[in-house]
Amino acid sequence: MRMRRIGAAAVLALVFVAACDGLPGKPKESDRPLSPWQVKSFTVLFSGNCAGCHGAGGRFGAAYELANPTFQALVDDAALTGIVSQGMAGTAMPPFAHKYGGFLTDAQIGILVDGMRRRWRVGAAPPNAPPLAGGGGDPARGAQVFARSCAPCHGADGEGSPKAPGSIVDPSYLTLVSDDAIRTLIVAGRTDLGHPDWRGYPPGQPLSAQQVADVVAWMAAKRPRFVPGSYARNP
Ligand code: HEC
Ligand code: HEC
Repeated sequence: MRMRRIGAAAVLALVFVAACDGLPGKPKESDRPLSPWQVKSFTVLFSGNCAGCHGAGGRFGAAYELANPTFQALVDDAALTGIVSQGMAGTAMPPFAHKYGGFLTDAQIGILVDGMRRRWRVGAAPPNAPPLAGGGGDPARGAQVFARSCAPCHGADGEGSPKAPGSIVDPSYLTLVSDDAIRTLIVAGRTDLGHPDWRGYPPGQPLSAQQVADVVAWMAAKRPRFVPGSYARNP
């Protein structure tokens, strides 16, 4: 009799041990926290690494609107991968790839690039867009482009107007922003700021690649060059 009870208790204990995995509240394998390099969700990667500067959902951040469909249509995968991997030297855009000192694997950078394209690129690249990178502008010609295409919103000298109150010739702003970032803004616009793209200065009079280069050169010429204690940029 006693032996039977012990036997039954042992069987019960075994049943409990075996059933443990199914107990309510026990974390499942899939609930265990992932190590940083195992994260494969675009949303988690973007909100953890990018949203602080580029805005939640890629909009309304201090840095460029990555969710802008015109930008996503004009940029290519290789350029995006390069920027995210290596960062942009001399700007606040940090490198993310392990080999450049960042914390993301190449696979994670691939997930970010792929996710941005799938979510935010709408349709094919519009024809005749000026390039997103480059140089070769002339500041004197740029002053004329500025007067016609930008001054209506930014004021005659770029210091602002009721339509666009911030100064775009502010020395600290120009010190922090690269020529290519200015160019991207002019070419692809920013829907979150209500900023036109190259087709809208004013609407119906698109800027040519040369005009974009010239107005970028006009802004770059206003960048302070020899600020004591600061690093030299775009010398
Ligand atoms: C600390 C702030 C910061 C973080 C974090 C950050 N960025 Fe940036 N990013 C910037 C700035 C500032 C620029 C513009 C740099 C310049 O002046 O050229 C930029 C530029 C870019 C550009 C180029 C846009 C253009 O003008 O062509 C891409 C693409 C980009 N970032 C993607 C990302 C992605 C993806 C992440 C997350 C993995 C990320 N960034 C995280 C600040 C940041
Ligand atoms: C239809 C009005 C409009 C026109 C035209 C316009 N902008 Fe803007 N721009 C804005 C607004 C609005 C902002 C954001 C508000 C602010 O900061 O004042 C802005 C912001 C900017 C910024 C700062 C972006 C940032 O990241 O903070 C730059 C640089 C700029 N514009 C350059 C230009 C240049 C160069 C031209 C001409 C080729 C131009 N804009 C034409 C409305 C305009």
